[in-house]
Amino acid sequence: MGEALKGLKRTIMCGELRETHIDNKVTVMGWVQRKRNLGGLIFVDLRDRTGILQVVFGEEINKEAFDKADGVKSEYCIAVTGTIVKREAPNSELPTGMVELKGEYIKVLSESETPPIYIKENLDAAENIRLKYRYLDLRRPDMQRIFMTRHKAAKIVRDFLDENGFLEVETPVLANSSPEGARDYLVPSRNYPGMFYALPQSPQLFKQLLMVSGYDRYFQIAKCFRDEDLRANRQPEFTQIDMELSFVEVDDVIELNERLIQRVFKEIANVDVKLPIERMPYKTAMEKYGSDKPDLRFGMEINDLTEAVKDVDFKVFQDALSNNGSVRAIKAEGSAAMGRKQVDKLVDFVKTYGAKGLAWIAYKEDGVKSSIGKFLTEEQTQAILDKMEAKVGDLILIVADKNSVVFQSLGALRLHLAKELGILENNNEFRFVWITEFPLVSYNEEEKRFQAEHHPFTMPMDEDIQYLESDPGRVRAKAYDIVLNGEELGGGSIRIHDTKLQERMFKVLGFTQERAWESFGFLLEAFKFGPPPHGGLAYGFDRIVMFLAGTDNIKDVVAFPKNQNAFCPLTEAPSVVEEAQLKELGISLNK
Ligand code: AMO
Ligand code: AMP
Repeated sequence: MGEALKGLKRTIMCGELRETHIDNKVTVMGWVQRKRNLGGLIFVDLRDRTGILQVVFGEEINKEAFDKADGVKSEYCIAVTGTIVKREAPNSELPTGMVELKGEYIKVLSESETPPIYIKENLDAAENIRLKYRYLDLRRPDMQRIFMTRHKAAKIVRDFLDENGFLEVETPVLANSSPEGARDYLVPSRNYPGMFYALPQSPQLFKQLLMVSGYDRYFQIAKCFRDEDLRANRQPEFTQIDMELSFVEVDDVIELNERLIQRVFKEIANVDVKLPIERMPYKTAMEKYGSDKPDLRFGMEINDLTEAVKDVDFKVFQDALSNNGSVRAIKAEGSAAMGRKQVDKLVDFVKTYGAKGLAWIAYKEDGVKSSIGKFLTEEQTQAILDKMEAKVGDLILIVADKNSVVFQSLGALRLHLAKELGILENNNEFRFVWITEFPLVSYNEEEKRFQAEHHPFTMPMDEDIQYLESDPGRVRAKAYDIVLNGEELGGGSIRIHDTKLQERMFKVLGFTQERAWESFGFLLEAFKFGPPPHGGLAYGFDRIVMFLAGTDNIKDVVAFPKNQNAFCPLTEAPSVVEEAQLKELGISLNK
């Protein structure tokens, strides 16, 4: 049973009360965190979004209120009116801990059953229960803090972009399916049976059209939809801070975004981001860290051993070298004494990344031990140790293969070892880096064709355009990603705004003229009418909030997330629909 407010007004939030409020008469409203009955006195911790306030009811204070307070339980929603007094036993853990509210009047606004999860910080409950009762999970103060942070971050972004001449424009959610992306979420059309809208994977084409329209600088905090395999940092629907600018080059986009990043991280996390942020060409990132999103908080860089092992009589190495591959290694400092079992686990680990093996050299006090000792002369071993700048106690881990496998496996091994060896424990650095000069296209072995690395509208670097047809794989793009501590926060590019160049690009990607027009005709048509040079960038907003909130699970920063199987345990979406709805859409199920 709940009572109506009937004109009762809240005068202040629970978490705001301080000693300056002593003797004030206030009305607060919120939820009962807990209640203790100490005989003549009842203590209620009352919670709202701003914090917790201790309320005390006593027979001496007000008998009617005391009796009623005796009936409340955890998570009842109540209103209390009374006087703020100094607390006899202050609680230094609570911001309101110097005062308490003498409860003179109480209304039970609604009762609560015993909640299926505890409403407390750092709850350790099964994820499916938390998601099923998400509205209770979101009552927890640590969750509420995350959403306050998310709100604040969005506001700072909006304010910053507004100050810098950006216009916020919304773009359609019922859009077109277009090739070259991830898998689409489709929405059947009633008006056109057999036809489908697609939910946008990003507002990419619309924002380019807005540049053609002369909007000059656009942004949007936009919902995007991608039917991909989910991970700790991926949701099927997620939010981008999406922007596009006219009359810019790479440096302009980067410079503006560095100031945006600096502002957000300073104002929310009090982190000082030093500008300019380091830039690293894609090639360097791959060669040194085996990744286009390197975590620069620690070294353990990959070294090229090609020169040192070129004469080693080990077939695996020679095969790799003669097949255009390489032999590279990382150094685990102080790990020479690692047990055999542990090393075997590392070998298994790299195999999941396609490596056929992992050779090792342990530089111990009493000499060198190695899995490939029988193939190495003393000089060759020494050359490897020199190249790796190895000291006594170090362990060298070597992979020989084609470059893509070498980079992938050593890049992953580097991160794996950092975790195993606790290298990043207590590290609270925020290491940003721009990765630049991405390849424009990459070769898809399965489809036997080149595909766009970023998207088909990305501008090649001026000096590489000449190789577009003769050697597409060598062409670098005016594309950039912003990476933080090994996570891709965002990415973008300067776009092609010249129809001739765009046609050349489509040819490289194996599109016929017809298919290009079928898929992107409206954009190509628009580009006939004076498109400005333009470029932009989009951040994964959820990922930024993850860093600001200090969580590595994207579900923590999305109010109503989907689980790992793209299912919502709360609303139970997706769900079956009425036969009549299907009929209207001209759909019959093939089950
Ligand atoms: P891109 O595809 O790189 O670029 O996406 C931009 C950023 O969005 C985030 N992101 C995701 N976050 C959560 N869940 C997902 N499933 C997910 N997928 C991507 C990443 C990524 O860096 N239109 C271009 C941008 C441009 O060129 O302007 C685009 O969408 O943080
Ligand atoms: P084997 O001669 O097969 O016993 O291999 C000797 C060592 O070379 C073992 O430690 C293997 O793990 C390692 N090895 C095998 N293939 C590769 C490879 N592609 N790259 C690096 N090391 C390898």
